[in-house]
Amino acid sequence: MQVEGCVAFVTGADRGLGAGLVEALLKRGARKVYAGVKELGGVADGDPRVVPVEIDITNIGQVARAASNARDTTLLVNNAGLNRTQPVLEANDAEAARAEMEVNYFGTLNMMRAFSPALKSDGGAIINILSILARVALPSMASLSASKAAALRMTEGARAELAPHRVRVVSVLPGPIDTEMSRNVPPPKIPVGEAVDAVLAALEGDADEVYMGTMAQEIARGLAADRQALHARLLTL
Ligand SMILES: NC(=O)c1ccc[n+]([C@@H]2O[C@H](COP(=O)([O-])OP(=O)(O)OC[C@H]3O[C@@H](n4cnc5c(N)ncnc54)[C@H](OP(=O)(O)O)[C@@H]3O)[C@@H](O)[C@H]2O)c1
Repeated sequence: MQVEGCVAFVTGADRGLGAGLVEALLKRGARKVYAGVKELGGVADGDPRVVPVEIDITNIGQVARAASNARDTTLLVNNAGLNRTQPVLEANDAEAARAEMEVNYFGTLNMMRAFSPALKSDGGAIINILSILARVALPSMASLSASKAAALRMTEGARAELAPHRVRVVSVLPGPIDTEMSRNVPPPKIPVGEAVDAVLAALEGDADEVYMGTMAQEIARGLAADRQALHARLLTL
């Protein structure tokens, strides 16, 4: 799918990767960009093609309203995400795990269910920003990994359901990106500009699953070659 002329809906558009995506979509000729933000006022206005939309993706009413007001969307970018940086057993309770599942899995599912009827009628595309931690658990962020893994499987199911309707569904699995979310992660981190380019290249390419950055690509190769050795190495991080 080409960016030029598309009508995009980007969640988590107020900062980080989402804000970068809005800017790049506009630069590359998107016809309109719905910028989904939890609180209006978080989107830099100025370009008349930007339509700010108040949306918490865990709020089913807001999601339904957004989908109904943005029926011309041809590209849905599920970018919003939550990382509470918690292990699974040593966390005080399961609150972080539930919150991450609510945003990363159910929130993304809410968006896909609400927007797919309109996308189906027009043969559009969906990009889900997941994480390389959908494929492996980093012990210090294991509950995030579980939620992204669930989202990865859900994305595969949705891809199969939407294929007969010519809707392309792409999973992007980045390594650490240089945003607020990974402020405590040591370098190297992917600069936001490079991450944005990789997402848009995934849209214009033909792979269903895209590994972003050297770390993600090495992990994917390691999983294919020797899963056990890779897991042993991750335990030391
Ligand atoms: N940074 C990394 O190292 C990294 C690595 C792999 C994957 N990713 C993924 O990349 C995506 C973008 O993350 P980022 O790095 O740009 O992180 P970020 O700077 O923390 O931004 C996260 C965005 O998600 C929004 N969000 C969180 N919960 C939401 C909800 N319930 N409803 C709507 N929006 C919500 C946040 O809104 P508020 O500003 O209102 O909180 C914010 O705009 C995420 O899916 C993340 O998991 C990031």
